[in-house]
Amino acid sequence: MSVISVENISKHFLIPQKKKGFLGSVSSLFSNQYETKVAVKDISFQINQGEMVGFIGPNGAGKSTTIKMLTGILVPTAGDVKVNGKVPYKNREENAANIGVVFGQRTQLWWDLPLLESFELLRYIYKIPETKYRTNLRFLTELLEVNSFITTPVRQLSLGQRMRADLLASLLHDPAILFLDEPTIGLDAIAKERIRELLVAINKEKNVTVLLTTHDMSDIEKTCNRMIIIDKGSKIYDGGINEIRANYGESRTLVMDFGHTPVIPQINAVTSIECEGLRYRIQFQKSKISASQLISLLSKDNELVDLTVQEPEIESIIKEIYNEPYKVSQVREKEAVR
Ligand SMILES: Nc1ncnc2c1ncn2[C@@H]1O[C@H](COP(=O)(O)OP(=O)(O)O)[C@@H](O)[C@H]1O
Ligand SMILES: [Mg+2]
Repeated sequence: MSVISVENISKHFLIPQKKKGFLGSVSSLFSNQYETKVAVKDISFQINQGEMVGFIGPNGAGKSTTIKMLTGILVPTAGDVKVNGKVPYKNREENAANIGVVFGQRTQLWWDLPLLESFELLRYIYKIPETKYRTNLRFLTELLEVNSFITTPVRQLSLGQRMRADLLASLLHDPAILFLDEPTIGLDAIAKERIRELLVAINKEKNVTVLLTTHDMSDIEKTCNRMIIIDKGSKIYDGGINEIRANYGESRTLVMDFGHTPVIPQINAVTSIECEGLRYRIQFQKSKISASQLISLLSKDNELVDLTVQEPEIESIIKEIYNEPYKVSQVREKEAVR
């Protein structure tokens, strides 16, 4: 049964049109000239209880706007949204009882209060019964490992600690659905990995439905089976992550720092080589050669100082989907062939 139902939603923002110069900006204060910015365009999807879905797209794609419509913060310009059978913006309080929300860019905790006091305040706001609160707090402090900083004021927490604290706060009232808007933004690789593992654990332990917004492909690869890709306000893909992985993002980049100018043999699977000083960016097709095979070929006669393998970013995968939409079935033809 679907707990999140989105049907043909759009969101338009009216932006006052600016005129040039000082007099122009004064007159634009009074004029009713507006420009329409289409942030979300005719998006539909259904999500079932317990699913973990990645909602991915480049910056400005409309991810946050969609999350805000799902959480009742924004009213759609057109279309219908139902969360747990309720229209979020019409039933904000009821909706709040069913959902947890984490915005990576903003905390819902009180900056100057020790963490535990923020949790107490949330217990009061959400009217969480004492025993349920105690049980959840005990379970979640252990799972998210926040005990060591539970008496620390929020402002003194590292970003990774704060994100775990925010996650805990969003789950205290036992919501059935968790909305996360860029929960890994700004985190280092280790803290990111930690958050991803915790999300999987929460989903598994509590069967919480998770909608995870991100512009980082790896967030989704590590957590979700299903992904919805949006670009410029439109949905361009909704389906399995494996299908995308198998059909797109075929090219990888190996970045190698050499100790001296390297001798690079002719290799078929290599599609391009760029160099900047002794740093070489070698693009290759992962189905034809593995990174480790390539590394051993290139380090055989050369002194290697450092290396990284770069995964393709969401932008390049979206470009590929536009160029070759027929590779996967769930790509909407109308959107993809533009
Ligand atoms: N309150 C607003 N007023 C005007 N334009 C907005 C507003 N919020 C978002 N937008 C615009 O809508 C588009 C989608 O934004 P957003 O949903 O924040 O994207 P994302 O979260 O995918 O980065 C962007 O072009 C953004 O500038
Ligand atoms: Mg956003």
